[in-house]
This record gives sequence, structure tokens and C-alpha cells, in this order.
Amino acid sequence: MAREFQLTDAVPWGRSEQEYRLFFALDELPAGSRILDCAAGPSSFAAERAASGRPVIAADPLYAGSAEEIWARIDGAAAAMAAGLERACERFVWDFSPTIEAHMQHRLRTARQWREDFRATGNSSRYIAGALPHLPFADGAFGVALCSHFLFLYDERLGEAFHHRAVREMLRVAGEVRLFPLLDLHGRPSEMVSPVMAALREQGYAVELRRVPYEFQKGGHTLLRIARRA
Ligand SMILES: C[S@@+](CC[C@H](N)C(=O)[O-])C[C@H]1O[C@@H](n2cnc3c(N)ncnc32)[C@H](O)[C@@H]1O
Repeated sequence: MAREFQLTDAVPWGRSEQEYRLFFALDELPAGSRILDCAAGPSSFAAERAASGRPVIAADPLYAGSAEEIWARIDGAAAAMAAGLERACERFVWDFSPTIEAHMQHRLRTARQWREDFRATGNSSRYIAGALPHLPFADGAFGVALCSHFLFLYDERLGEAFHHRAVREMLRVAGEVRLFPLLDLHGRPSEMVSPVMAALREQGYAVELRRVPYEFQKGGHTLLRIARRA
């Protein structure tokens, strides 16, 4: 694991709908697209989309716990993230949030929005307990499956075989998969990107790298989009 971020596991730490829109290029999707957010954690994406009448499904093993149990983990993650950002601040771009304090406030606001929605809806409709590489959804249940800040980021811990199985599983439940960012916890391009792309091309999928207008980890501005060939 990266020296600056002393994380033993994928931490529950979440981005907002505005961030998802930018790094997943969501504005180009047709209205009414059925979206699955994998490894969604305490992102407010699903809550914000539901509030604006565009529901999505969020899946994460975390959701097996209660809002209070999950919040305790978010609290612990916050301390580790703030300390890591202090140590590694030169590896990040500070335009979306100009300071670490502003960034932390933004993340905690996002997590509180998630908590409010999770408390109100529970874990049987919008928030589903489910872990890659075995998702509890039918084949082709979704148009698009998203996964951010899990695959590639924790590549050392997850390993290459897990990456292949996880992406294949997302492609089982959705016609298209979008992954972001493509960096590891050290801020380096993940070594898993090339083998994953090569295997998918071999299997006949259309695979595309696209620069997006979002960059928090320096160099973390590229989306990987995978789709069945038309
Ligand atoms: C850093 S959070 C990312 C949250 C959100 N996608 C975002 O970008 O804001 C990583 C999440 O991965 C989840 N996770 C851990 N193992 C998983 C697995 N096997 N399958 C799916 N999600 C997993 C964790 O519970 C955590 O909530």
C-alpha cells in the first residue's frame, strides 16, 4: 500500500453526483439509462440521482451493515484520508477543493447525504449489499455499470485475476462498463490497466480510454469505457 495512505482495505470514502458526472462522462448517456454503481460506498451519487427522479442502484458489501456501523467506518477512514492527504498533498490537484479542510468538508457532506438516504431507504431497494466479483443481479439487468476508486486503485491488494473477474462480472450485468481512475494508491498508472484492456479486446469488446474534465489525483483524468461491439 502507498506509504502516505496507511489503508489496509478499500476505505468507505465517497464522491458526489457532480464528480461522478464529470469522471464518468455521464451527461452523454441517454435519459433513462439503467445505471449500476459498483463499490458505491458512501457516495451521494445514488441519493442525489434519486432526489432528481433519475434512480440508480448502488452495490457495495458495506451495505450489509447498519447506517451507524458504516458511519463508524467512514469516521475512521476520514482520519486516515486527512493524514494521507497532508503527507501526499503535492500528488493532488487542488482546484475542485482548494484546501484539505475544504476537501474533507465536501467528502463528509457527501457521506452525510448518503447516510440520510440509506437510513430512509435501507438496503433492499436502492442500496444492495453485493461484492465483486459476484453481483446479485440478473444478466443484462443494467445499461451501464460504473466502478470508481476501487479497481486499479487497490490493485496491489486485489491482484490481476480479481480485476479480470470483476470486469467480466460487470459486463455480465450491464452492456457497458466505465472505470475510473486508472491510477493506483501511489498515484501511478495501475499495472492492471494494460492486461485488463488486452484481455477484453481479445474477447471482442470495444475498449476506449478517454480523457475527462476531472483530476484530483494528478494524472487521474482518464476513463476506461468497455462495451460490447454493436
Ligand atoms: C473508496 S470507496 C469508492 C466509493 C465510490 N465508488 C466513489 O468513487 O466515491 C471503495 C469501496 O469499495 C468497496 N468494496 C470493497 N470490496 C469490494 C468488493 N469486493 N466489491 C465491491 N465493492 C467493494 C468498499 O466497501 C468501499 O465502499
